[in-house]
Amino acid sequence: MKKKREVFLKKLKAYGIKENIPNVSETNGCFLHFLVRSLQAKTVLEIGMANGYSTIYLADGVENIDGRVVCYEIAETGWRAAEKNFKEVGLSDRIEIRKISVLKEPPRKEEKFDFIFVDAQKSLYHEFWKVVKLHMHKNTVVVFDDVLKFTKKTAPFHALMKQETEFEQVILPMDGDDGVMLVRKRVRIRKQQDDHTRGK
Ligand SMILES: C[S@@+](CC[C@H](N)C(=O)[O-])C[C@H]1O[C@@H](n2cnc3c(N)ncnc32)[C@H](O)[C@@H]1O
Repeated sequence: MKKKREVFLKKLKAYGIKENIPNVSETNGCFLHFLVRSLQAKTVLEIGMANGYSTIYLADGVENIDGRVVCYEIAETGWRAAEKNFKEVGLSDRIEIRKISVLKEPPRKEEKFDFIFVDAQKSLYHEFWKVVKLHMHKNTVVVFDDVLKFTKKTAPFHALMKQETEFEQVILPMDGDDGVMLVRKRVRIRKQQDDHTRGK
């Protein structure tokens, strides 16, 4: 990441703490950046952007392969600040902001994403999942933030995910008191190996 962006993110993080903006931690931001780069994700969807702190990590992560980030944010204060922040770090052209609830106006049927980050209203995580799963391809990786701390609010989500046997899921502790869930479609390794040995 460019030094100028790193400095900007440090300042934005400090501002977020002062103003009580629920941005991801710096560790989580770096984790997202690492993931999108490792996966070589070119198309990213973020649900819940606030002032764009996590979005800058995502957009910087896809920049080297000319990737794009689509973000949903319902709060005007959030997207107004985000627009300013993206301009400041030279990432505006890479990020499309949709200023509406993802539940009201989900992505178009044909839009599939390589990487999806969900960090909006916790009590609606189960509803976000129903949208998200329609926009995954076979290698999409999804990250849900804050899946451990808000037990009551995320209970319907956890109950739903338990039934999703076609999706691999793992929860990683993050930030000391919370965790993220990573989800991807289950890969049928045995079938792939069989096909491989049969020369398919
Ligand atoms: C935890 S903050 C996001 C923080 C951001 N990911 C970051 O780390 O900088 C959650 C945001 O989700 C937005 N939000 C809540 N429900 C939403 C929905 N249905 N669609 C889009 N955004 C939503 C809220 O307005 C809020 O700004």
